Amino acid sequence: MVEATSPKQAAGYAAAKLVKTGMKLGLGTGTTVAFFLQALAERIKQEGLEVVGVATSVQTAELARTLGIPISDLDHYPALDLVIDGADEVDSKFRLIKGGGGALLREKIVAAASAQVAIIIGSGKRVARLGTTFLLPVEVIPFGHVTTRESVAKIGNCTPYIRTTEEGEPFVTDNGNYIFDCRFADGIANPEQLHADLSQIPGVAEVGLFLNLCDMVIEGQDDGQAVTLIR
Ligand code: A5P
Repeated sequence: MVEATSPKQAAGYAAAKLVKTGMKLGLGTGTTVAFFLQALAERIKQEGLEVVGVATSVQTAELARTLGIPISDLDHYPALDLVIDGADEVDSKFRLIKGGGGALLREKIVAAASAQVAIIIGSGKRVARLGTTFLLPVEVIPFGHVTTRESVAKIGNCTPYIRTTEEGEPFVTDNGNYIFDCRFADGIANPEQLHADLSQIPGVAEVGLFLNLCDMVIEGQDDGQAVTLIR
C-alpha cells in the first residue's frame, strides 16, 4: 500500500489493518470509506483475505464490486463483526452526527447489527458540542414532509432545510426518502433527548445522531499517520 498523503486516506488505510480473514464487514459510505475500500481490496488481492461486505449505500456497493470486494446483504448476514464508516462530527463521548452522504438510515441499521463500530475521520471533525460545525440530517418519508418539517422545527427547536440536488429537486435517499438538514442556533445541548424527541415524530425515518454505537475512532493526521481512540 502506498503511503497516505491526506488525513482521510491515513484513516482509511489504518482501518483496513483491523480486518481479519473470515470477517463479516459493514461498509460505510463517503470519501473516507472509499480510501478504506481501496486498501481492503489490496489486502484481499495480495493476502487472499476472505471477507464479505454489507454496504450501507448503493454507491458503496458499486465501488466495492468494482474493487473486487465480495458483497452480500444483511438478510444473509444479520450479524456483522465490524463496521467501518465515516462521520461528520464526533464528540468526546463518541457520539456522532452522520448522514452528510445521505446514507444515515442504512448506516444506523448496519452499525446496530455489528459487534464493533470503527469510525474513520479526517481532520476537523472532532467537536466539543455536536451540531456546531455540521447540520443534523434527519431522513423523512416524502408523504406529508411539509407537516413533518413543522414538527421537526418545533419539537427540535431548530431550522430544517430540505436537502436538494444541483438541479434544485429534493435529494432522494436510497430508501426513496427526503432529508432535512437541521440547524441548531447553539449546537445540540442534549443529543439523547433530541434523538428521543425527533424519533417520535410521525414521518421521521431516522435521525443522524449515532449515540452509543461507536466503539473506536481512527483520526487521520496531516503527516499521513493515524491516531486511534477507544471508547
Ligand atoms: C454518509 O451518509 C455519512 O454518514 C458519511 O459517513 C459522512 O458524511 C462522512 O463522509 P466523508 O468521509 O466523505 O467525510
